[in-house]
Amino acid sequence: MSVLIKNGTIVTSEGEFQGDIYVEGESIKAIGKDLEYQADETVDATGKYILPGGVDQHVHFSFTYKGSKVRGFETSNAAAVGGTTTVIEFVNQEQGKGLVESIDEYRKKEAEGIAMVDYSFHSVMTDPRPEVIEEIPKLAEAGYPTMKLFMAYKGMFFHADDDAILQALYKGKEAGVTIMVHAENADMIDVLTKQLIAEGKTAPYFHAVSRPPVVEAEATRRAIYLAELADAPLYVVHVSAKEAIEEIKQAYNRGQAVYGETCSHYLVLDMEDLGRPGFEGAKYVCSPALRTKEHRDALWQAINRKWLNAVSSDHCGFDYEVQKHMGAGEGKSFADIPNGAPSLQNRLNILWTYGVCEGRISMSRLVDLFATMPAKINGLEKKGQLAIGYDADIVIFDSSYKGKISVANNIEGVDYCPFEGFEQKGRPETVYLRGNKIVENGKYVGNKGQGRFIPGKPYGLAYSE
Ligand code: URP
Ligand code: ZN
Ligand code: ZN
Repeated sequence: MSVLIKNGTIVTSEGEFQGDIYVEGESIKAIGKDLEYQADETVDATGKYILPGGVDQHVHFSFTYKGSKVRGFETSNAAAVGGTTTVIEFVNQEQGKGLVESIDEYRKKEAEGIAMVDYSFHSVMTDPRPEVIEEIPKLAEAGYPTMKLFMAYKGMFFHADDDAILQALYKGKEAGVTIMVHAENADMIDVLTKQLIAEGKTAPYFHAVSRPPVVEAEATRRAIYLAELADAPLYVVHVSAKEAIEEIKQAYNRGQAVYGETCSHYLVLDMEDLGRPGFEGAKYVCSPALRTKEHRDALWQAINRKWLNAVSSDHCGFDYEVQKHMGAGEGKSFADIPNGAPSLQNRLNILWTYGVCEGRISMSRLVDLFATMPAKINGLEKKGQLAIGYDADIVIFDSSYKGKISVANNIEGVDYCPFEGFEQKGRPETVYLRGNKIVENGKYVGNKGQGRFIPGKPYGLAYSE
């Protein structure tokens, strides 16, 4: 199968130009002006933007909170409709099992034959026994060269203390496994949570009060110092506080290989959303917590100036009616509400409408944050760029589209959308996954199981700079 896309505005992380793209089989064979190829399909993209398919390096299709599990890979077509063609899933090490074994099992059971976009995995270490630490290099051999530790969830089996993080940093460095952290101080959260509950402050709004910016800043700084001691790169996931940005920026300026991402919801939602009437605030319970305009402005500045390197979704498909209500009723509190919000489908829509259209970031910067950098950071060698030899993951973007973001147009399989009613300018009109059309007129037209596992190469960006 071959496709010739003509006369589009091709946007890369370096710039934009008018031109054509020729795809043969699964990859990009030519890019240039007035290409003349006899293709099976020729597409006139006049007036449209051509972007690389997005790489969402932070999704949860297996996350479980107090026994309740998110929607899985059967909803990954929502990524495609949102212009994302590769997702990277965090897989918890299962109790009593190895790191690689846990991912291998999950991959076979819950991704293969189901995924509708390409996929890769991050390990999450939950049980830092000596033999598990020794196993870390095996992750790189298996194509899973990134591992996250949760600093935030005291008392939960997946919480990690400094000892585990430091050991992981030392061992990861030997083999090119990048260590990632969810940076919040679990003890601070625990003390504040207990105080708030004792005062009867149990509503969703108090989730944000229980984890103010200093909680994130302290853990970010601590993780950075642990990484300095180990002389190892560090990647900080879902940065939301301006103080945490400052820690990362300063470490980077000191010469440390510290990188970070933020997520779409932190760029446009507010901690006031947690105070919505009734129990509606529960829809906005995610960690770190949503913050204020001051922090949002700092995040936009940070992604524009490259102080943060990617924008992910942190997609977490918990529904409102049942799962978020685990924190409602007698004896319950915000601490019982599953953390996370669904946002797989709207990452590009948010970046375009509220970033590019409002002059906060350029189109090239969007491409870098949405596709190019997440591919590099995670060692996905043929993803995230419109260039010869790369996978033909291509988005034809119609900037003239006008609509509203709503759960009614959403295929994430969740009963609410945190961006409900938000204006949407532009949309991914057509999407190709390795040369196969999977979205047409904004609708998913691909097949279940079409997504393929993409191994990550060790020594991703963090080691090469
Ligand atoms: O609230 C969040 N972010 N939920 C997903 C799990 C995590 O901490 O990333
Ligand atoms: Zn997290
Ligand atoms: Zn997450």
